[in-house]
Amino acid sequence: MGYREVYEGWKADPEGFWMEAAQAIDWDEAPKQALFDRGDHMYEWFADAKVNTCWNAVDRHVENGRGEQTAIIYDSPITHTKREISYVELRNRVANLAGALRAKGIEKGDRVIIYMPMIPEALEAMLACARLGAIHSVVFGGFASNELAVRINDAKPKAIIAASCGMEPGRVVHYKPLLDGAIEMADHKPDFCVIFQREQEVAQLIEGRDVNWHGFQYGVEPAECVPVEGNHPAYILYTSGTTGAPKGVVRPTAGHLVALNWTMKNIYNVDPGEVFWAASDVGWVVGHSYIAYGPLIAGNTTIVFEGKPVGTPDAGTFWRVIEEHDVKSFFTAPTAFRAVKREDPKGEFVGEYDLSGLRAIYLAGERADPDTIEWTQKMTGKPVYDHWWQTETGYTIAGNPVGIEPLPVKLGSPTVPMPGYDIQILGEDGTPLPAGELGAIAIKLPLAPGTLPTLWNAEDRFVKSYLSTFPGYYETGDAGLIDEDGYLYIMARTDDVINVAGHRLSTGGMEEVLAAHPDVAECAVIGVTDQLKGQLPVGFVCLSKGVDRPAEEITAECVKMVRDRIGPVAAFKLCAVVDRLPKTRSGKILRATMVKIADGADFKMPATIDDPAILDEIKDALRPLGYAGG
Ligand code: COA
Ligand code: AMP
Repeated sequence: MGYREVYEGWKADPEGFWMEAAQAIDWDEAPKQALFDRGDHMYEWFADAKVNTCWNAVDRHVENGRGEQTAIIYDSPITHTKREISYVELRNRVANLAGALRAKGIEKGDRVIIYMPMIPEALEAMLACARLGAIHSVVFGGFASNELAVRINDAKPKAIIAASCGMEPGRVVHYKPLLDGAIEMADHKPDFCVIFQREQEVAQLIEGRDVNWHGFQYGVEPAECVPVEGNHPAYILYTSGTTGAPKGVVRPTAGHLVALNWTMKNIYNVDPGEVFWAASDVGWVVGHSYIAYGPLIAGNTTIVFEGKPVGTPDAGTFWRVIEEHDVKSFFTAPTAFRAVKREDPKGEFVGEYDLSGLRAIYLAGERADPDTIEWTQKMTGKPVYDHWWQTETGYTIAGNPVGIEPLPVKLGSPTVPMPGYDIQILGEDGTPLPAGELGAIAIKLPLAPGTLPTLWNAEDRFVKSYLSTFPGYYETGDAGLIDEDGYLYIMARTDDVINVAGHRLSTGGMEEVLAAHPDVAECAVIGVTDQLKGQLPVGFVCLSKGVDRPAEEITAECVKMVRDRIGPVAAFKLCAVVDRLPKTRSGKILRATMVKIADGADFKMPATIDDPAILDEIKDALRPLGYAGG
């Protein structure tokens, strides 16, 4: 069967399609019904089933004869460490950790925050929670204390599992002080923290609150897998919205299992036993779905890579890992290849490694620019497939169904909708637009299994953010078009979310930080084009009356504030003082126009602009930062 038939088959009988896909999962109680309509455009999948994620990702492979197969390869060029963990070892380690958590009171439904770097223990912590039916929320290590505190207050975890440190090239990230700071800041306090002490740094434990990862597992009874309802939240993953308050995306257990398992063959074209590698971080959705759960659920070998595309030690690292571990499918963000290309434009490193085992490369997380795709294809001789998805969905909305039938690649397009997603381009009034016309990208409800049923603690926000603008549709927040052949093109975000090195960030969140500076009266943050990271944030601040300190002093403080409050991952380094911000007559800041000026793009003077002369001031402020032709 080709893609068309599969897609049309799904469309004709969506529930039948997913019931069949569900047969690949081990159920404690098999679903009798696929879709549950909860009214008001809210849906759930497989809500009547009972299942355990950890069983499906680990134990069942041991039962089915894969016990000796490597489940996780840890490859850390930063710490010069390599280690392999078999499925049986993983089962034992996770069962012990879960047993220790249970002995400390963690039960089904309790939240556990995980704040860990790219080490196998991060996956073990996630799986141990899944084993007990506890709901984990992994927080990316590049976020600062304040961001962690916000997530602690929202998720109200009973426990936090953290490592003593993370390793960035040339810098140890001291997790423990960040963790202690966050707990101090937060109103909610966890009952206890589990600290994994890394060799590179031994953290000071707080007596009565902190326990040592190894110590607290001593002598405990290993825990068995606890079956949970199909709609039980597997995890919460916070992602950026338009304000500083992140959205807690809820991942439902059963749909997650069924959908991720389906993607491993149909999209990534790997069979059980083969090695799949996603070079991302467990703190992001790509890490959740394709470092941790997807490959393990399907019985693949996954790689936990603690390194960067360049500098650890060189631009040949990706190729080295692919050769050494016989990677069949490789997934990363376009920015990673832009970094490699910048260091090794002629692809000299590529030639040093044997990539014959590799079948294809997949890109997601941000727009894949045609140059990067073409360069990667030319250097590696492998097909490069762009695919489009979001934290909210957890897997591909539009992609190339390589395991079903590889479709011709059109540069600039992530290809076609996957089964589960009826993608429509809508005009402002919500009517579907014809092929070739640009509009809001929306998905006809219900969404596919595994996608978010709601936001944690924020059902109203869920409805307002995703379901209200176009009744009967999910609003993706992306704008784009579908061409005559049914290929989708993603052009821009329709909100204040920007994408920096494949990381989703909120300019609104950064503005909230800048506004808190005592000398700042007003501010705006925009995302400008960057050759390496895709986009970079630039801040503009207007000072309060009477402030006469040097502008550089204030902008340096602003940069530090964003780094301290949001974290280094915000990559906020460009900031300028301006007298005024360009606004409409009704007072709305013209951010989109500012972006065009920064990027040197053509723009139409907004008819509603209050004072066009301000745009020249913005241009003058951008030039010293290297933008607007500077
Ligand atoms: N813990 C702590 N700090 C982190 C971190 C982590 N897990 N990840 C990144 N940071 C820090 C970096 O050290 C950097 O700090 P600095 O300002 O002191 O240099 C800052 O956050 C910005 O990081 P990043 O945007 O990643 O830039 P970089 O210059 O370190 O690396 C790339 C650039 C392109 C090599 C890198 O962004 C990359 O590998 N991207 C791949 C993207 C990816 O995996 N996306 C996930 C979706 S698929
Ligand atoms: P995240 O939730 O962090 O995965 O970010 C999702 C957003 O990243 C999407 O809404 C898009 O704006 C952008 N994005 C992800 N993948 C792609 C892609 N392949 N092409 C263009 N934009 C993408």
